[in-house]
Amino acid sequence: MKLKEKDILVDGINISYIEEGEAEAAVIIFIHGFPFNKWKWENQIGLLKERYRVIAYDVRGHGESIANTAQMNMNQLSDDLFSFMDAIGVESAIICGLSMGGYIALSSVLSQPARIEALILCDTQCGADSDQARTKRMDVIESIQKNGLSQYAHDSVQKLFCEASLMDKLNEVSSIEQTILHTSVETIVNTLKALAARKETCSRLNQINIPVMILVGESDQITPLEAAQKMQDLITGSSLQVIEKAGHLSNLENPASFNGYLQGFLTSIQQISTRL
Ligand code: MLT
Repeated sequence: MKLKEKDILVDGINISYIEEGEAEAAVIIFIHGFPFNKWKWENQIGLLKERYRVIAYDVRGHGESIANTAQMNMNQLSDDLFSFMDAIGVESAIICGLSMGGYIALSSVLSQPARIEALILCDTQCGADSDQARTKRMDVIESIQKNGLSQYAHDSVQKLFCEASLMDKLNEVSSIEQTILHTSVETIVNTLKALAARKETCSRLNQINIPVMILVGESDQITPLEAAQKMQDLITGSSLQVIEKAGHLSNLENPASFNGYLQGFLTSIQQISTRL
């Protein structure tokens, strides 16, 4: 399947994105995790493009969205999303974000709720980093600056995938390792700082009043099941689905199960809204 890749200049950043489906259809926008790119949503784009206008973009500094990352923070990444939506003529959309993509989605729904119709939060959390997690990120930055990305890429995949995926999903594992190695050190360092500095959103999740589905890999070590359960407790009416045989990258590790839940959720919200 050859997907259509485009780019657009938004506030001085060249945002690279994939867009498929009919222009008049309801819009779903996918936001990748750190430090990945838009191509990690290929399985989901293929599934939805007949019924939706499906968009996946590279977050500032990642993939082919070459941009200044020096002042990166979650508010800026959420502003980027809205500026990108303006630029491509999308007033409101369903947003699906994984991990960092989920942080951006949560920050966005809290700042401009009218522009988000529904949320799919995958392998993410509402908590800020603990002091220990912040210290760990600073140690990682020091090691990358001293030794480059190879060790970091190798160590990352061990944590991102569940044990079964590390043995059986060799293409996915290799693709993630290569993606990390092809991301600039500057982007990785600046994004790690932004992730370490991000604020918690748990205390405001009770403001969300749109349909929300939370997905989590059963063996996610980075944003585990308890983090997903906490969000479900705080978001009225949200649902939680656990993806078997998956770690932190549930859409890549078990696409059949992930896509089944995604399709089920989209069908259920279509039944309650004429806009979707
Ligand atoms: C991600 O996948 O986006 C990262 O693991 C997020 C994080 O490190 O907090």
